[in-house]
Amino acid sequence: MEENIIVQIEKQDHQGRGIAHVNGKITFVPKALPDEIVNIKLCSKFSKFNEGQIITINKSSSCRTKVICKHYSICGGCQLLHQKYEAQLDFKQQKIKDILTKYAKTKLPTINPIIKSEPFYYRNKVTLHIIDNKIGYYSPRTHEIVDITTCYLLNPLILKIINKLKAFIKQHQGLEKAMIRIGNGTDEIMLNLKGTVPLEYIQTFFTDQVTSLIYNNKVLLGKSSILVKLNKYNFYVSAPAFFQVNVFTTDILYQTIINMIKDIAAENVLDLYCGTGTIGICISPYVNKIIGIEVTPEAVDNAKENQRLNNIKNIDFMVGKVEEVLPQISSVIDTIIVDPPRNGLHQSVIKKLIDMSVQNIIYTSCDPMTLARDIALLKDNYQLLIVQPIDMFPNTYHMECVCLLKRIK
Ligand SMILES: C[S@@+](CC[C@H](N)C(=O)[O-])C[C@H]1O[C@@H](n2cnc3c(N)ncnc32)[C@H](O)[C@@H]1O
Repeated sequence: MEENIIVQIEKQDHQGRGIAHVNGKITFVPKALPDEIVNIKLCSKFSKFNEGQIITINKSSSCRTKVICKHYSICGGCQLLHQKYEAQLDFKQQKIKDILTKYAKTKLPTINPIIKSEPFYYRNKVTLHIIDNKIGYYSPRTHEIVDITTCYLLNPLILKIINKLKAFIKQHQGLEKAMIRIGNGTDEIMLNLKGTVPLEYIQTFFTDQVTSLIYNNKVLLGKSSILVKLNKYNFYVSAPAFFQVNVFTTDILYQTIINMIKDIAAENVLDLYCGTGTIGICISPYVNKIIGIEVTPEAVDNAKENQRLNNIKNIDFMVGKVEEVLPQISSVIDTIIVDPPRNGLHQSVIKKLIDMSVQNIIYTSCDPMTLARDIALLKDNYQLLIVQPIDMFPNTYHMECVCLLKRIK
């Protein structure tokens, strides 16, 4: 079905897409900006909404900028590259306000101004798909690979390794997936590959190129972890472990949490979804005792190693799902830090948090929707005092937010 139509873009949805109405029906137009007049093709019609694609921009927004990436029209790696960075920040500031207002269903404090990042070259990690001799991200909603030669989100060292991989897949068929991670502050490089290529080819080709080479879960070169430096601390990070991806704003995120911890004079703290122990280690000088809980065993191994490496004495780490381990905690706790994945907190975790009657919850979230849902579930017992948005993911619609909640009853 193809139908060309001229629309005026009213605003952006939470994914940064333009919103227009066609015969009264909401129509999402990716890469269109508020106030623009665009000629669109309706590419899909659903019962409640349409999806359109820009054919021409008849009146352009002053927030539009020249797109610097040649892959942008087909790549799913970022969504806001056409929007000036200051306007992206305004969009995210409004997005968190709108979502919390609509879904948190509680009195909001004044939301702090969003903390910005360097908009380019900020990512220290990428996972790429490989088919035949193409390597890249998937195109939106397909398993078509966009064969990237550049990406303005990635640390330039990652691009060097992508170019090596391109040379490799020209010679050898059978690589399926590549994860590349760079250690902040050390420039150590981890290359984690999956596929059916004979191991010797991989070993020969990538020796001298990377610090840690892993193939089908086997370490071929270096160690299973690379070293990351963040402020005064050092962290080992293994392939399965999570590490914050933004090189420029991770220390600001952790400093925001440290400031909250100091202001509330936290003493006995749970660090839930603790990954490699970064938050616990960063707050350790300011509190009495910390218990970290994390489901990925390799991340907990890193966390224990990191504790020793940084000579930290006041943390215990436990491996397991928060929803299963939290009920075993019997120590008296005054503050709980949660930093869950995008799906937010399990219902049973929220119930347990309420039952534990802790004074403070510091909620670090990378998805405002699940954050708002969880705040709504906590609202009868906790008042939302601080909302600090941080742009950890420039040029995408994603954002981070740190909230402080205080017990009211
Ligand atoms: C957003 S990351 C935060 C990690 C860490 N706080 C940091 O700043 O590096 C979320 C972490 O939660 C872990 N995770 C996911 N589901 C979990 C669960 N049900 N219980 C415990 N940990 C979980 C993931 O493995 C990941 O390490």
